Order: sequence, then C-alpha cells, then structure tokens
Amino acid sequence: MRLVDVSPEVVTVELADGPARFHALWLRDNARDDASRHAGNDQRLFDVTELADEVVVASAEVVDGRLVVAFGPDGATSAFDAGWLEAHRYDVAAGVGSRAGDGPAGAVPWLAADLDLHRLAWADRDDRESLAATTAALVRDGVAIVHGLAVGEDPPADAPGIVDVAGLWGPVRATNYGEVFLVRAEANPTNLAFTPKALNVHTDNPYRRPVPGYQLLHCLVASDVGGVTVLLDGFRAAEVLRDEDPAAFDLLATTSVPFRWSGDGFDLRNRGPLIEVEDGGPRAGAIRAVRYNNRSAAPFDVPFDEMAGLYEAFRTFARLLHRPELEHRFTLAPGECMVFDNERVLHGRDGEADPGRFLHGCYLDRDWIHGRVG
Ligand SMILES: [Fe+2]
Repeated sequence: MRLVDVSPEVVTVELADGPARFHALWLRDNARDDASRHAGNDQRLFDVTELADEVVVASAEVVDGRLVVAFGPDGATSAFDAGWLEAHRYDVAAGVGSRAGDGPAGAVPWLAADLDLHRLAWADRDDRESLAATTAALVRDGVAIVHGLAVGEDPPADAPGIVDVAGLWGPVRATNYGEVFLVRAEANPTNLAFTPKALNVHTDNPYRRPVPGYQLLHCLVASDVGGVTVLLDGFRAAEVLRDEDPAAFDLLATTSVPFRWSGDGFDLRNRGPLIEVEDGGPRAGAIRAVRYNNRSAAPFDVPFDEMAGLYEAFRTFARLLHRPELEHRFTLAPGECMVFDNERVLHGRDGEADPGRFLHGCYLDRDWIHGRVG
C-alpha cells in the first residue's frame, strides 16, 4: 500500500487493484481504535451524531503496511490494514456484480448435469469436518442430502427424523402447517402439495414474510410409480434470462408482485420481485433470491399500461424453467432428506405419485446455515 494523496476531505492510497479514495468522514466513522470499536466484539462504540459536523483528515501516512490517519477536530487516530481497506473499498466503477460472480458470495449456480449432490450420512453428523462440508455444499449448490434416517409410515420414536436433521443447523421455523408438515395425498388438501398431482417447479411460501430460507423434505415411504423429484437452480435460470433477454430480466427484477395463501384461519400475503438482485454495494445487480410459485402468485397489480409487458417477461422466465438442461431429476429414497435453499433452488414433482408416498417437511431460517462459521 502506498499513499497517493491526502486532503482534509479525502485520502487516496494505492491498493492491489489500483488507487482507491476514502472520505474523511467514512474513515472516522469506521475508525479501528479502542475508543471507537469494542476490542472484544468489534462493535462500534459511538453514534454518528457524536462526530463533529466537519470531520477532516489532519494527517495520514503509511506505517508498516498500515494507513495511519489522525482526524480533526476530535484528535482521534486510527490505523487501517491494507487488507481491511481492500475488503471495504468503495471507489469502484458501477456495474452488474462488478466485483464478484452472480449470486450471493459462495454460490456456484449449476446446470442439471453439473450437480453432484453432496451427501451426509447421519452416522457422520458429529464429525465436524463432514458437517462443515455439508454446510459448504448448501452455500455453494443450495442443496444437499442427509441419509440414514427413519423409514416407514410409523417409524420408531428414537429413529432420526426431520427435526433432528434441522437441528444439525438450528431450530425448525414453525408455520401454520405446524413444526413438521406431512406431504401425502389428502381428501381435502389445504394445498395442492398435499395431493398426488405432479407439481411444477417452485419455491415454497413466497406469501410469508420473511420467506423461509431453507426447506427440508424427508422421504419416509417412496412411490412405486412417479414421484420423481425435479430440482432447478433458480440463480442459473435467472442468469440465462439475463443473457438471453436482459429487458425481461430487468423488468422481473424491478417489479414487485403479490403472493397470497389463505385457509386454516390465516390470510398470508407478501410481495416482492420474482428475481431479487443486490440493489447496492460492490455486488449491485448480483442475484440474491428467486421466488416462483404458480399456485400462490396473486393477481398481478401493475398499472394497466405495464401489464402486457410484465406478462411477456413472466412467461419468458416461466418457459425457461422447463428447459431439460436446467432440470436435475432423481428419486428421493426412504431414509433420505434433502435440504435446500428455498429462495434459490426450485423443487417439483414429475408425474403422478402413488398415494402411498409419504414425506415430512419443515423449514429453517437461512442464517442458521449461511451465517455459520466453521
Ligand atoms: Fe413445495
């Protein structure tokens, strides 16, 4: 790191990627000294209103690879590591995901043929490295399988089940369907998922706020016919749309649409774009979430003049979600549980399953997986 220029308002340093400017107020607000940040938890010890109206740089120099800045008028001094400045530089050209690939950090969007489903044996759950590898696969691929679990219609109480699998990361997020929902044919289903019908690929519960971040589906009894699982990486599908029809992508990424489910004493509503992108920061434009559910999309409510265009973009994306190269097909066996990112990986069922097929399902908040360290 080399000092390029210093003024009362701005410090410019040469970093690995080239010169970067930093405002005096930004540097003071992010000062690393002990009076500004708690040494133990790294939390800021002051509020921005406590700083002077005119924060200035009194002096700046590079000492032992660190930028040392003295501020006025309060006299505070702080040292910034080159690595920290690199990680937080904001003097970059604007552009779509200009500093990283598409998708949240760590996600590697896949085509069907590329997906090598990560598997964790229940017997290995206490092995730290095995569990860490599974967590990493969930962040990278958005899906993993845990196997060696309970099987059958009425498994013994001590057989490992879906709540135990969720517990590898965190507590189940209960909904009006209960802590665990049952997926099988019912006489009067509250949701088409609870029938043997084929199901279009979708993400669950876009009508909840917040949308459940992860979903688990544990197969207890398989189907003799049909019931093939289809998984599709919504991030990859969105990337394809952006490549092929950027105007449709932009429209879907900037149009908030409503979702709704009612029944069982609840009327649940939420809204958001079908494709959500980072709306700021160095990764602006990178895909952040995909929500798609043909069953619970409520009537679109954009102004009259925009409706035809929205439907055109919506149908273009919907057709794309049926492309064979995006659809990963496999059969979930009894004793297997798939864990998947519910704002990325779309899931569906191909063909009529026989009514004996029986799965347990539950949800988990995203942070238990994506926020985990090690
Ligand atoms: Fe579903």
